[in-house]
Amino acid sequence: MSTKNDILKILEKNKGKNISGEALAKLLGLSRAAVWKAVDALRSDGHTIEASSGLGYMLSENSDILSVEAISKHLPGIDTQKLCLYKSIDSTNSEAKRMLINGAESGTVIISEEQTAGRGRLGRSFASPQGTGLYISFIIKLPEFNSRSLLLTLATSLCVCDAIEKTTGISGKIKWVNDIYVENKKVSGILTEAVTDFETGNIDSIVIGIGINCNTAPEQFPENVRKVAASLSEFTDPPAHVDRNLLAAALIENISKLERYPFSDNDDKLVAEYKERCFILNKKVKIIKNSSMASRAEIEKAPYVTAVDITSDGALIVRHRDGTTEHVSGGEISIRL
Ligand code: BTN
Repeated sequence: MSTKNDILKILEKNKGKNISGEALAKLLGLSRAAVWKAVDALRSDGHTIEASSGLGYMLSENSDILSVEAISKHLPGIDTQKLCLYKSIDSTNSEAKRMLINGAESGTVIISEEQTAGRGRLGRSFASPQGTGLYISFIIKLPEFNSRSLLLTLATSLCVCDAIEKTTGISGKIKWVNDIYVENKKVSGILTEAVTDFETGNIDSIVIGIGINCNTAPEQFPENVRKVAASLSEFTDPPAHVDRNLLAAALIENISKLERYPFSDNDDKLVAEYKERCFILNKKVKIIKNSSMASRAEIEKAPYVTAVDITSDGALIVRHRDGTTEHVSGGEISIRL
């Protein structure tokens, strides 16, 4: 660890409280000048550190830069070696895939303050402005994964809802299969990608990418998503800035359990929990197949069906107007309300 990280760790532990330069220097066996230099470097990274003569340094309560030190403060058992933070990157999912080629281990987590080419489902982009959201990807290696892909997706949505609720008190609802909504606005999206072993053709690893709009102002969203997208901070009561480090820690704790989740034994419980959160059941929806290719006219023309249930393997059952039912699984499908 560098001097800068050592100092940040202590300041994080004492967030909102003063600690003298002398005490910091003594704790770390440094000169006062070295402490000052490290504090200066932390400020350049965006941390809000107040200094007052006689009192020392204080990491402001409002300082909201994602850091290994802040996340591990909330999650003491975390293996910090597996936590990779970036200021800016094209896409954390793309980085996860590059890391897999270089032998990254299961449990590796990639987080960035900003994505310059954030990716969504169905070839869409995911707006990821600097310092306002949580853009995070997990590398997971699951044995015998192939048949349970949809359940993993369902489980991930529940992990995200739980982390949001624990951190902010907001109860998110799920639009099948894995968009998280609050009051009819999308606050989070999930992109799960499989990586296959070249020789066997089997799914070798999974990259779970999660984007959560935490403190993004409405005007920071691209115009085409402004009507549907919103940030968690718009729904906190009383209104409050969302602590992204706390949210990241809650999410990492939840997702890391998926590696050990016995999908075969607990499916009914998982699906029952999912159904409680899923807000499209008993509603009229449009199912758009091959949706990245569908034209506006085709979407308009698609008939409404009723979403009636979720099967034990995570598929959506819809009822057509003539009374027949259809099981819809993941893939190139989008749901319009
Ligand atoms: C969607 O809404 O269609 C899915 C959005 C997924 C966005 C996340 S942000 C972190 C990870 N990196 C990406 O490029 N995409 C996912």
